[in-house]
Amino acid sequence: MKSSRRQFLKYAAGSGIALGLGAVPLLGRDRLRGSHGSLLESKLPGSGNPLRFPPAYSGTTLTAAVTQQSVFSGAPTEVWTFNESYPAPTIRVRRGDTFSTRLINNLPDETIIHWHGLVVPHEMDGHPRNAIAPGASFDYSFKINQRAGTYWYHPHPHMMTGPQVYKGMAGLFIVDDDEQDALDLPRGEFDLPLIIQDRRAEHIPSFTYTLSNDDVQNGYLGDMILVNGTPDPYLEVGRGLYRFRILNGSNARILDLALSDNSPFHIIGTDGGLIDRPYEVSYMFLGPAERIEILIDFSRYAAGTSVLLKSLPFGGSEGYVQGTELPVLRFDIIDKAASPASMPATLTTIEKLDEDQAKAYRKFTFRIDHSVTPNAHPINDLEFDMERIDERVKLGDLEIWTFENISFLPHPMHLHGAQFQLLTRSTGGEIEARDRGWKDTIYVRPFETVRVIVRFNPAPGLFLVHCHNLEHEDHGMMLNYEVVEDKSAVETQTRLPDRLDLW
Ligand code: C2O
Ligand code: CU
Ligand code: CU
Repeated sequence: MKSSRRQFLKYAAGSGIALGLGAVPLLGRDRLRGSHGSLLESKLPGSGNPLRFPPAYSGTTLTAAVTQQSVFSGAPTEVWTFNESYPAPTIRVRRGDTFSTRLINNLPDETIIHWHGLVVPHEMDGHPRNAIAPGASFDYSFKINQRAGTYWYHPHPHMMTGPQVYKGMAGLFIVDDDEQDALDLPRGEFDLPLIIQDRRAEHIPSFTYTLSNDDVQNGYLGDMILVNGTPDPYLEVGRGLYRFRILNGSNARILDLALSDNSPFHIIGTDGGLIDRPYEVSYMFLGPAERIEILIDFSRYAAGTSVLLKSLPFGGSEGYVQGTELPVLRFDIIDKAASPASMPATLTTIEKLDEDQAKAYRKFTFRIDHSVTPNAHPINDLEFDMERIDERVKLGDLEIWTFENISFLPHPMHLHGAQFQLLTRSTGGEIEARDRGWKDTIYVRPFETVRVIVRFNPAPGLFLVHCHNLEHEDHGMMLNYEVVEDKSAVETQTRLPDRLDLW
């Protein structure tokens, strides 16, 4: 059962062929260098670099600048950084805090920071309309009114999110709260972030970002993984329980993470924090911008052994550019003190949003033959227009949003200003652990329809819904929605479904 489901998901995720849609065009796989075998061999014990960790944010400013960083051995890399750090410093706050910082833009381009997953007033949300020019600054201040969880921040300037993130600008924004502190979860050195990003080996030591037509179509994909900015990383772990907060910080790469010996691990959290209980899995899909928190128990391994976290190969056809097998991080098990924590049986209670209470339905269709028009990524046949308001929703309302993907490409769909819950995937089955709890980004497979339920509770204002394949986002796959208090404005804007049973 499990394996046939997995088979199906992988096939459906990878290829139109599985769905009887004919040949998928070859999308330049031969651009990816190196054989997977040799990449994996280079991860043998004794090789590689100790995993780095981003510094903790402190102070009152985030300065964006072009700097030189030592990423690879040998020549330095030009990295676009916040506070001269790659990855960007980890911001850590408690629920109820007010977070204030001044963004200082010393880049040659305009920029603005978006706090991905946080629900903040719209003028604090990093809408591209608020981008600031080189030399300018922007003062942020907002209250953290949110569950504990692993959120993140990155630039959001109009049509330049892809290059700025790729060149290095992204960091974690971790929220703590009392509820989570009361649980017996691994802490301190046993609670570690893993920011996973792909880069192109052929460009070492540079983070070169030049888009071909294929890149605009598929997203900018690399063929090697950096974890926390570390190439060929390894981490020495004791024989106990570890909590990893994983961010897929890639522009476009979809990961399917597993341990090389297929050992199970437990998913405990998703985008918006802890889920109801730990779920045992042996692999997990992670689309761009999604976070997942896992517990791995290394006590099953003997000291002196190693196990590799990797991204499994997937996809139904050779021509499909996602689904390359990639080594991610080698764990070297050593004799050292382990965490005293044990696996909690339950984690939290998540209020299930009730479909019957929904006030409106909206449908977002990605209808495009990318092989004919590779450079356009519209939503409902519209490309992003900064000044156009595409949807108006009433403050406090519960709505059902449907993402209907009738294209050959996967689209990780992201909402600003809200956390939502998955209702259904047209590919069926019960909700997987990776989709449970509160989400702000949901991976929509090719030819899949995904329904989510969301309550709009930010302060009124302008927010975004977009694909988090950053090349899709930069090339139009984004709409404005406005949260309003005036109900009459809402009623004229709400589009009802043409066929209810499809929603
Ligand atoms: Cu992480 Cu609008 O993005
Ligand atoms: Cu966001
Ligand atoms: Cu997309």
